[in-house]
Amino acid sequence: MEHNVKQSKSTTSRRSFLRGGLAVGGAGAIGAGLFSNGLPAFAEAESGGLTKGDAAILRFLSAAEILETDLWQQYNELGGIQDSEVPGGSGSKAYTDALKVLDGDMDQYIHDNTEDEFTHFTFINAYLVAKGADPVNLDKFRTLPSSKATGAQNIGRLTNLMRLTVDTSWWTRYRSRTKNPDFGDTFPPAVPGLLKGQFPAIPRNDNDLSPKDHLQAIANTAGFHFAFIEQGGTSLYPSLAQRVTHPQILRILLSIGPTETQHFQTWQDKAGNAPALTDPTNGLVFPDLNAPPFGGEDFQTNLIMPEPTIFLSRKFPVVSIIRPTETRGAAMGALKALTADGLFIGQSPEFFKVLRELAEQADAARHG
Ligand SMILES: [Fe+2]
Ligand SMILES: [Fe+2]
Repeated sequence: MEHNVKQSKSTTSRRSFLRGGLAVGGAGAIGAGLFSNGLPAFAEAESGGLTKGDAAILRFLSAAEILETDLWQQYNELGGIQDSEVPGGSGSKAYTDALKVLDGDMDQYIHDNTEDEFTHFTFINAYLVAKGADPVNLDKFRTLPSSKATGAQNIGRLTNLMRLTVDTSWWTRYRSRTKNPDFGDTFPPAVPGLLKGQFPAIPRNDNDLSPKDHLQAIANTAGFHFAFIEQGGTSLYPSLAQRVTHPQILRILLSIGPTETQHFQTWQDKAGNAPALTDPTNGLVFPDLNAPPFGGEDFQTNLIMPEPTIFLSRKFPVVSIIRPTETRGAAMGALKALTADGLFIGQSPEFFKVLRELAEQADAARHG
C-alpha cells in the first residue's frame, strides 16, 4: 500500500486518513492525511537521508507497531467501539460486558489504544518514505485465522490472541523497591496460571461466551495482556532511543514512547480490577491480589505508580523509573517477549526470519 503515499493528494483530516487506511481491512495502508499538496510534509521540514542505524531502528519500530495494531484491531472488533475512526467488526456484547467488569470505559480505551497504534506505524512508515527509506509492510504474513465469534471480521491476521501465555511479572517489576531487570533481577508473576498454558484473550467462537466465569477469565486474560503489550512499548522506545543519531529521530522516539506508557498506566489500573475467579473449563486461576499469599506492596491492586528502585548503580539513591531500559539487544528482547507470549503461533518460518532481521539490524545501530 506504500504507493498511496505518492498518489494521494486529496484528503487532509486525520480521521479521513484513518478511515481510508482501516477500510482496507486494517492492512498497511498509508493514508493521505500526513501530506498536503501532494508533498510529504517532512520533506519541507528536513532534508537529507537517514543514517543506516536510524532507518533500522525506525523500521523495527514500524514492524512492532504494525503487530500491535493487528492485535489491538482484533480486540476492538469484539470488545471495543467500532466506528469510523476504528472500523471493522461489529462487537460481541457478552465479551464487551465482561471487559467492562474491569472498567465501564474499557471499550473506549480499547478503541483509543487501537487508533493510537495505527497512527504509530502509519507515521513511522510515512517518515521512512519521506526520507527515501523503505517502509515496512507485513501484509503477506496476514495468514492467521480470525476468531469465529460473532462480531469479528473474517480476515487474515498477523497475530494470534487465542493461545496466549501471558507474562504478568511486569506487575511485581514495577512494584519492587530493590530490584531492576537491568541488574539481572527477575520478578514473580501476578497471575501464575497465565504462564502455565495457552489461553484465549478473545472468544475463539460463540461457545466461549459461556459459562460466565469462562468468559470473564477470557476478559481478565485480555486485561492483563493489554498491560503486558504496552509495558513492552514503554521500555522499547527509551531502550532504542539511546542508539539513534539524528535529533529528529530522537524526537520521534521520545514523543511516541511515552504514549505507550500512558497506555500501560491505564491498563495496569484496569487489570487490578479483574475479579478473582477460576475458569471452570480449564482451571485458570485469577487470584485475589489483595489477600494472602498475595497482597502487600508487591501485589496490592491500587499501587499503580512505579515504586522507586535501583538504577544504573546501587550507589545511587533509588528512583522512580521505567524498567528495563538497557539498550543492548533491546529489539531482539522485544521480539522474543512477543514470541513467548504466543502472539505468533502459526506464523511461517519466513515471518520469524523477517522479524529477526529487522531486530538484528535495529540492535546493530549505534549512536553517531
Ligand atoms: Fe504503539
Ligand atoms: Fe502500544
